[in-house]
Amino acid sequence: MYTLKPETAEDWWEVEALYDLCFAPGRTALSSYRLRDGVDPVKGLSLVARDENGILAGAIRFWPVLVGGTPALLLGPVAVHPTRQGEGLGGLLIQSSLERGRAEGWDRVMLVGDAPYYRRFGFEKLEGVIMPPPTNPDRVLGYALRDGAWDGVRGEVTRIDA
Ligand SMILES: CC(C)(COP(=O)(O)OP(=O)(O)OC[C@H]1O[C@@H](n2cnc3c(N)ncnc32)[C@H](O)[C@@H]1OP(=O)(O)O)[C@@H](O)C(=O)NCCC(=O)NCCS
Repeated sequence: MYTLKPETAEDWWEVEALYDLCFAPGRTALSSYRLRDGVDPVKGLSLVARDENGILAGAIRFWPVLVGGTPALLLGPVAVHPTRQGEGLGGLLIQSSLERGRAEGWDRVMLVGDAPYYRRFGFEKLEGVIMPPPTNPDRVLGYALRDGAWDGVRGEVTRIDA
């Protein structure tokens, strides 16, 4: 059994260590991190999953970005500890945070990731949404939290404070 809670400042370094474990070295060199530098993750949507002993099993973070000047959530990183993968926790973190995002009035979510994984949650390739290079455009995916929320939303993805 896992308990999902919004990430707090006390969770920060533990989540960083989990991401270091789960991703290839150099993850912070990815272009998506330039959208995150110095910007706080979205509170309430960025979640930690702990087991009954309080051990961190998975985490998801979201950042606010602009797409052609229109606000959107940038999902990620999301990671589940290697010993806990394949139990549905990644799916639980994603579904739960998307529901929270919708409830809090966000309209659209994007990410850079594997379409074969994220398709099951309703993510589709975004046309005309340009991440900072180098990013494979086939990995730029979006999900509308409200019907039609991505219609006509195009352009460069920029930092919220750009
Ligand atoms: C991706 C990740 C968060 C999924 O967490 P999880 O708890 O194992 O996921 P779930 O149990 O909800 O789902 C497991 C399913 O997803 C599939 N899956 C996992 N990663 C996948 C990928 N990159 N592409 C396609 N399918 C993937 C598994 O094969 C499994 O398929 P099944 O349901 O048909 O058996 C986890 O594997 C992880 O932390 N990976 C390393 C970090 C990472 O790559 N994060 C995502 C960045 S794009």
